Amino acid sequence: MTKFPHNFYWGGATAANQCEGAYNVDGRGAIKYDFLTAGTHEQARSYMYKDKEGNIKRATMFDIIPDDAELILDENEYYPNHEGIDFYHRYKEDIALFAEMGFKMFRMSIAWSRIFPNGDDETPNQKGVDFYRSMFEEMRKHGIEPLVTLHHFDTPYALEVKYGGWTNRALIEHFERYADFVMNEYKDLVTYWLTFNEINNLTMMTAFIENLPAKVAKDAYQSLHHQFVASARVVKRAHLINPENKVGCMICGIVSYPLTCDPKDILENQHKMESVMYYSGDVMVRGAYPHFAQRIWNELGITLDITDQDKQELLEGKVDIYTFSYYMTNCVTTHDDSETAGGNFSFGAKNPYLKYSDWGWSMDADGLRYILTELYARYQVPIIVTENGLGQDDVVEEDGSIHDDYRIDYLRDHFVAMSQALSDGVDLIGYTSWGCIDLVSAGTGEMKKRYGYIYVDRDNQGNGTMDRLKKDSFYWYKKVIASNGEDLV
Ligand code: BG6
Repeated sequence: MTKFPHNFYWGGATAANQCEGAYNVDGRGAIKYDFLTAGTHEQARSYMYKDKEGNIKRATMFDIIPDDAELILDENEYYPNHEGIDFYHRYKEDIALFAEMGFKMFRMSIAWSRIFPNGDDETPNQKGVDFYRSMFEEMRKHGIEPLVTLHHFDTPYALEVKYGGWTNRALIEHFERYADFVMNEYKDLVTYWLTFNEINNLTMMTAFIENLPAKVAKDAYQSLHHQFVASARVVKRAHLINPENKVGCMICGIVSYPLTCDPKDILENQHKMESVMYYSGDVMVRGAYPHFAQRIWNELGITLDITDQDKQELLEGKVDIYTFSYYMTNCVTTHDDSETAGGNFSFGAKNPYLKYSDWGWSMDADGLRYILTELYARYQVPIIVTENGLGQDDVVEEDGSIHDDYRIDYLRDHFVAMSQALSDGVDLIGYTSWGCIDLVSAGTGEMKKRYGYIYVDRDNQGNGTMDRLKKDSFYWYKKVIASNGEDLV
């Protein structure tokens, strides 16, 4: 096995809206996820909203909600993100546990609406500013490098109401102002930044909509364009604020294979990889739209508003590192007799060579080596795997132990794949596993879809003490980090 570089960033990752809780504490403003009910693998999470006639309606997270709808909270529903895992009050204890495992890096996100509750406020919310300063100081105290996501599915809801969200160009400058503020505020504590989590999600969501209307497609691609420009401006600002700053894109790793060797499947898969992964990565790493972008817009029947100044800004705001999430792979086919499978914001044909998790996500460590080498060949910049892991329910034994050997097996296979990618010559500099402490699932809102090395006593209905327990994988990951990836037994 190829050795991991001596300064490899082993660590874990979380996101504010899935772990902090304290959704209305100390001046935090609302975000859309606050209005999402719990769901399950079978039943999508939903929003309750008031339409313009005042009727109360329900829509799933994949439905189109009218622009003038007002999201509401229903006292008969359960909203898991409201309390999360109470990281807001327990971060010191949790960071100490990360340090005990030997984390070199902790990826977390700043909630924009804790800093600017409405997104465009004149002055920042001091309590929010103090909270993140204290969290970064805590990490530094333990020798942990912060990797900060500036936006993890959490645009302040007030901006959605006032401007209609990211379809409106106005959001670019509000995001730039927020990012500029925090990058200055924490410049003595943070040098690794990610702009938008899984930015490509914005357009991937359109794949879930049947008979996609051109307006919905246009809104999604225009919003994505505005986020690209916002991100590029932030990269440029980051380098001015501190030349040591390293800024990355964060792309949802939707990796697919052709299901058969039918050339039609090969082409179909090539187009899928281009539209879901390379479209965003190319803009953010190379600073310009790729050649196939026009074909995608033509197929959707849309024309985007992209100015010459935008193009210039994209070119001037190329990211320094490529980061992505990787959980599973899917297959693409033009043949309609295949079995389908789910996945992270994706679906596709089922791969007969792979095993699937209880949530229907494939387990494919070789796919990680494959995509790492593809990405490095394409971009030639350092790479961090900023999310990966197995979402699986755990059993707590009478003595409080948790034997999650299935999670260890999954992770071990992926670490072997990373070492193989290193031997392929990939400049892989870090790995932060997703949900290093159990947290609320983004897709289903469940607690029992657990990814952590640390168990949190909380169930799908919100019962439990919130106590933290160490799983077997906690001790295993500690050994992995201590041996810098050599002891995987
Ligand atoms: C990624 C997101 O898509 O996948 C995370 O960045 C999310 O926010 C993770 O939690 C795992 O997905 P899920 O649906 O199992 O929580």
